[in-house]
Amino acid sequence: MELMKQIWDMAQKDIKRIVLPEGDEERTLVASQKIKENGLAEVTLVGSESVIRSKAADLGVNLTGINIADPETSDKLEVYVNEFYELRKSKGMTIEKAGKIVRDPLYFGTMMVKVGDADGMVSGAVHTTGDLLRPGLQIIKTAPGVSVVSSFFIMMVPGSKYGEEGMLLFSDCAVNPSPSSEQLAAIAIATADTAKKLCKIDPKVAMLSFSTMGSADHEVVDKVRAATERAKELRPDLLIDGEMQLDAAIVEKVASQKAPNSDVAGKANVLIFPDLQAGNIGYKLVQRFANAEAIGPICQGFDKPINDLSRGCSSDDIVNVVALTAVQAQFDK
Ligand code: ACO
Repeated sequence: MELMKQIWDMAQKDIKRIVLPEGDEERTLVASQKIKENGLAEVTLVGSESVIRSKAADLGVNLTGINIADPETSDKLEVYVNEFYELRKSKGMTIEKAGKIVRDPLYFGTMMVKVGDADGMVSGAVHTTGDLLRPGLQIIKTAPGVSVVSSFFIMMVPGSKYGEEGMLLFSDCAVNPSPSSEQLAAIAIATADTAKKLCKIDPKVAMLSFSTMGSADHEVVDKVRAATERAKELRPDLLIDGEMQLDAAIVEKVASQKAPNSDVAGKANVLIFPDLQAGNIGYKLVQRFANAEAIGPICQGFDKPINDLSRGCSSDDIVNVVALTAVQAQFDK
């Protein structure tokens, strides 16, 4: 696939350090060897060193050139515990609690990224999205000037003419259950910027609803309308329009009837969903019914990149998300 090749090329040009906290998980171990062999990132596996080595031996995975960080024996543990305590003491954290929490590989890996011992983190082959996001939100937090962490999927729909020859970005499908209009505007802007930087496309952003340009009235439509206005006000340089239905967003003929004056309708390649239920259901519908490849969820808005995997992921999916995370880390410089 062309986009992933482009991402691999970018990752290989400037090697970043990516931590994988599910270090003893089988697909993760297999992926770590592929990442090393393809020069996509310098990998650190977090977990019990003896368990990681024994599982790798069972799987025939060569760990040469792959780092292992065992929270129980790491000489960095104390630094991470103290730093975590400092970060969270205003929220009631004690040094004793911090000592227990940071031994959790997800928190340990997040602390590695926080203090600069790694450039990014990828997890989620075993843990849920919330398990990954919570330490990220508590420790890494948002990048300067960014109000909300969100996520996007790159959807590749085979044989489709919609979007960018079948490629579209969908957001937010994984993080914010019920974004406010202000947050929805921030999500639209972040996804447009991501589309430009990562996918090298000119974003045309549709703010999705069950209403097109005032065809229906409801408070949930008002939210999308307000978000559209806010996003346009904040970033007049971007092509963002709404509110609009999905067909008006991507089908030129429908757009010419329902939104004839829009420069986005009929041509949208970035779809912003009004809430997480719509976004999560939406991407899965396209993935299953249209046989689309769904790359993600990729997080955006963190101060340093951390990304989630689907628990059904393959080792190749892990390799690709690590490459994407490494490229995001390059943008962070
Ligand atoms: N952006 C920035 N900061 C945030 C965000 C956000 N989107 N959400 C929460 N925070 C901050 C809070 O301000 C808080 O900061 P503080 O502790 O320093 O004050 C911290 O993060 C924790 O906030 P909580 O509200 O306590 O966190 P919560 O327990 O609600 O968890 C989470 C946040 C994990 C993102 C939650 O909203 C969630 O579970 N989202 C849905 C995840 C999910 O299940 N996705 C669907 C599956 S994914 C898939 O199918 C691909």
